[in-house]
Amino acid sequence: MQDFSFYNPTRIEFGAGKIASLNQLVPANARVLVLFGGESARRTGTLDEVITALGEREVQLFGGIEPNPGFETLMAAVALVRNNDIDFLLAVGGGSVIDGTKFVAAAALFEGDAWEILLKGGQNIEHALPFGAVLTLPATGSEMNKGSVITHKALQAKLPFMSEQVFPRFSVLDPVKTYTLPTRQVANGVVDAFVHVMEQYLTYPAQAPVQDRFAEGLLHTLIEIGPEALADPEDYQTRASLMWTATLALNGLIGAGVPQDWASHMLGHELTALHGLDHAQTLAVVLPAMLRQRKSTKLGKLVQYAERVWNIHEGSDDDKAEAAIERTSAFFESVGVKTRLGDYNLGAGHIDEIIDRLTSHGMVALGEHGDVTPDHCRQILLASL
Ligand code: NZQ
Ligand code: ZN
Repeated sequence: MQDFSFYNPTRIEFGAGKIASLNQLVPANARVLVLFGGESARRTGTLDEVITALGEREVQLFGGIEPNPGFETLMAAVALVRNNDIDFLLAVGGGSVIDGTKFVAAAALFEGDAWEILLKGGQNIEHALPFGAVLTLPATGSEMNKGSVITHKALQAKLPFMSEQVFPRFSVLDPVKTYTLPTRQVANGVVDAFVHVMEQYLTYPAQAPVQDRFAEGLLHTLIEIGPEALADPEDYQTRASLMWTATLALNGLIGAGVPQDWASHMLGHELTALHGLDHAQTLAVVLPAMLRQRKSTKLGKLVQYAERVWNIHEGSDDDKAEAAIERTSAFFESVGVKTRLGDYNLGAGHIDEIIDRLTSHGMVALGEHGDVTPDHCRQILLASL
């Protein structure tokens, strides 16, 4: 096991009706800005429930945070925070709203051009406003982690940042709030959480048996409940499991003490920034081809994954690895997330620009060994046409 430092200060309030606990969670004298996305929070009644729970506090609203939250939109929220002496933020939505709120929390106290936060990956964040979240979409784990991904539309750049200053103080997880999700977003959530586990598990053996078993447990659970969550949107127990699984997939626990990959995510971000694919769609395309391209360096873990997660015991190590990659693609397809670039109307002619962007963003030595180059990524995209 590798050395590690593990820190996670986010309180989780989990269960039906837990939005009412906002009254205890948010400081009584707070001047609150509630941030949300398009129309879903208002349409589903969640926004009203939140406002009611906040009682007599001074509350302002900022709506319109788009999927893949935009720097330009978020800077308007920063201006609102500064002009109104807001001292507490509350995100109501999915990963995009929570990520956007993390950025607003840091940017509101940042001196200079706030895009520098992304260019430095968050290392230049000294303070951030306190904030909490009401999660409406299980997928990203943003509700219990220190990461955020922001898109600069004009620059067509989607970049991540991390800082301990942007852990949510608390997150409210009410599975009932997921009942209104469109099928596509539930499927995206299953795939995103699955790939989060894979990015921290499918590297090389690191003598970390409990992390491996946790990771395999999360993968098994997603394989089991993914289809159920799609088939019966109002099955509380299934939605509860999906919600907590997605949180555990990226709250730091399974990644402590083990090597991590994240190459599929970094390449996927370029596909979203340039061509607008949903985050999970990019992962469904990239991950299988990424695993195949790097089969030799990942073989030990691929065989373990094949045997323990997919129950594949026949054939050579290479056969097992190949069969496990096939099962992975088939699982993504089975929940309705397509796995070929062609499914999203992208062809060989688009690849050069994607690779140019990846290179210009400094993503030239990716993966757990830092040996995944832009040229490898080109081969990966060609293989996923
Ligand atoms: O905008 P509204 O109208 O609210 O609709 C949203 C949005 O269109 C809708 N939605 C959310 N909750 C709903 C609902 N519709 C009906 N009922 C509900 N209860 O769902 C759509 C997608 O929402 P979004 O927040 O974009 O999805 P998701 O949670 O998948 O977040 C994706 C973003 O998170 C980033 C991704 O890159 C992407 O930008 N990620 C953040 C991570 C992190 N912070 O750790 C890790 C991930 O790898 C990921 O990169
Ligand atoms: Zn992700």
